[in-house]
Amino acid sequence: MGDVSLVAPSNKRFEGKVAIITGGASGIGAGCVHLFWENGAKVVIADIQDDLGKAIANKLGENVCYIHCDVTNEEHVHNLIDTTVAKFGGLDIMYNNAGIVDRPFGSILDSEKSDLERVLSVNVVGSFLGAKHAARVMVPRRKGCILFTSSSCASIAGNATISYAVSKHGVVGLCKNLAAELGQYGIRVNCVSPAGVVTGATFGVPPEQVEASLAAMANLKGKILKVEDVAKAALFLASDEAGYISGLDLVVDGGYSVVNPTLMKAVGLLQ
Ligand SMILES: NC(=O)c1ccc[n+]([C@@H]2O[C@H](COP(=O)([O-])OP(=O)(O)OC[C@H]3O[C@@H](n4cnc5c(N)ncnc54)[C@H](O)[C@@H]3O)[C@@H](O)[C@H]2O)c1
Repeated sequence: MGDVSLVAPSNKRFEGKVAIITGGASGIGAGCVHLFWENGAKVVIADIQDDLGKAIANKLGENVCYIHCDVTNEEHVHNLIDTTVAKFGGLDIMYNNAGIVDRPFGSILDSEKSDLERVLSVNVVGSFLGAKHAARVMVPRRKGCILFTSSSCASIAGNATISYAVSKHGVVGLCKNLAAELGQYGIRVNCVSPAGVVTGATFGVPPEQVEASLAAMANLKGKILKVEDVAKAALFLASDEAGYISGLDLVVDGGYSVVNPTLMKAVGLLQ
């Protein structure tokens, strides 16, 4: 067994660690800010929703701060990384989570070139810039962890607009290729890919209705995916418990993207 420890992981997994979470002012990012902070991390919220971001930082106290950062702007991202290092003394976890959708569904025939460019700009270019500037400070220290939020729509087709799906495939590609490049420096790079989870934008549909629809189509019954479930997956990937995991796209979808129930339904074995 070697020196495998059977001691349960500490509930302060991130004591002494510094994390940046982009898109940390709401939704999955805000859930991660709270969970990482509860686990002892010093956390920087990077977002463009200043009031929301500052309110979370004020509530959580001196170990959390807010920095205005539009992830599509390289100067902002450069400043984000340098200010974090100056304030908290380093950077251990860079979580590139900020993302946008153009709209929930729709045909390519209704899509504009500008829709694709806008979504790629935040979801892919923003993730690229965050990873690049995090690597700038992590490589010399030969340690660190870079995370992304992609989506289960990078594992199964037909669940999102073309623009969004393309962007999230791009994020997985970025993650895997960076894992290949940065492994030599001891830097782990991983991705969390949730299925639908009710957060900020529900496009005018009541959140309960969205959750009911998601539950109806889910593979895993008896549970509804919540922000906390996604945050726990990110926590695991960023923690020492995932110390030899790199290049992984951790799909948090209750098995949805690996199941195709149409045959079993057609032969009447599944309702
Ligand atoms: N909610 C879902 O169903 C779902 C499913 C799969 C993946 N995701 C992904 O999870 C991530 C978080 O989304 P969410 O559901 O929590 O949505 P959200 O809208 O609640 O949070 C996204 C955050 O990103 C911020 N943001 C947007 N553009 C930005 C920019 N240019 N610079 C900095 N910050 C910016 C927003 O202000 C917001 O705080 C996104 O990458 C999203 O694509 C969400």
